Amino acid sequence: MSRLISRRLAWVYILVVTLLAVSGTMQMPIASRYRIVAVPGLGWLGNFWLTHKLHYLGASLLLVLVGDLATRWMLEWRRSHVLTPFGLTRAALVAGLILTGAVRVLKNLPNVSFSPEPIMLIDWTHLALAFLLGLLALARRWTKASYLRPR
Ligand code: HEM
Repeated sequence: MSRLISRRLAWVYILVVTLLAVSGTMQMPIASRYRIVAVPGLGWLGNFWLTHKLHYLGASLLLVLVGDLATRWMLEWRRSHVLTPFGLTRAALVAGLILTGAVRVLKNLPNVSFSPEPIMLIDWTHLALAFLLGLLALARRWTKASYLRPR
């Protein structure tokens, strides 16, 4: 099967999601508590301001990437290909991460406030979706399944 998505673009996706996963995990924050900052070269993970900005950078890059892929899917690829259950699940997880992430961005704005219960639900959902995206990637590797197949 010819590749719809170039190897280079696939690597960009992997790097962006890795940046989001690392910077997101550091928002909890665990780097100082579990002495990750003591590992030579990893001290910067304890800089909350930096990892927060990196998470926003990763989120912006992800939005550009998803916008590009979704446009090409709508205009061209969906005529010749379908998403497998793995592909559908990944699309749903990424959409959920963008949605819940956007609410968290709103919550961080100085003049916006939400009541604690719904925002806690959003926080936990964002974290759970990130965890599930990691599990899905592992399961896909393990089963050697693909995300797309020709019609
Ligand atoms: C693959 C995609 C993503 C992954 C793996 C990811 C992962 C994470 C993790 C693990 C956390 C910390 C968990 C928690 O505190 O509950 C977090 C927090 C956050 N994420 Fe994401 N995230 C992703 C995408 C996004 C996107 C697309 C946005 C914005 C549109 C976003 C915005 C945020 C915000 C604002 C926070 C909270 C930062 C703070 O404490 O102020 N994330 N993310």
